[in-house]
Amino acid sequence: MVLPIYTYGLPVLRRRADEVTADSPDLQRLADDMIETMRGAHGIGLAAPQVGHSLRLVTVDLSVMDDAPDVPGADPSGALVLLNPEVAPHPAAEREEFEEGCLSIPDVREVVVRPDRLRLRWTGRDFATHELDAEGMLARVIQHEIDHLDGVLFTDRVSALRKRLLTRRLRMIARGETEAEYPIRTVAGDR
Ligand code: NI
Repeated sequence: MVLPIYTYGLPVLRRRADEVTADSPDLQRLADDMIETMRGAHGIGLAAPQVGHSLRLVTVDLSVMDDAPDVPGADPSGALVLLNPEVAPHPAAEREEFEEGCLSIPDVREVVVRPDRLRLRWTGRDFATHELDAEGMLARVIQHEIDHLDGVLFTDRVSALRKRLLTRRLRMIARGETEAEYPIRTVAGDR
């Protein structure tokens, strides 16, 4: 089922999400719905707070990445579910600029500087533990999505000048004055 994507200004996006446990209710269905929602919105990653669930659950679509590695636990279509993902610094990491966007902040794209690689550890949807050194697009998406689990949005990570230039646009979205080509939830209702 496609879920509405919560947009900038809704409090769930600013909360630190809770750890997933084996008895988190409807976990498998939520993961399936998030994959469908992510793909329906042409997103490359989605975090559970973006569909209103304050849980440390992320989905990633490897099938739309040019440089995706083989990732343990990914399904045959390239959908990957990460429970309680954690990253550690990679010794060879360098800072990299890349233009990011976010399904929760329609029509905003900004350059964000992040490490270009990292060590990732997560629990799969079968509750097996996995580890991987990630780089390229996967490393970028994972950092963006883990930020969501900590209540951080990519617009928090842009320069002071860019932030000032974005203020008006972000205020509009926070009032519900926004549209997207996928179902969204705003303070002013669903679109
Ligand atoms: Ni995002």
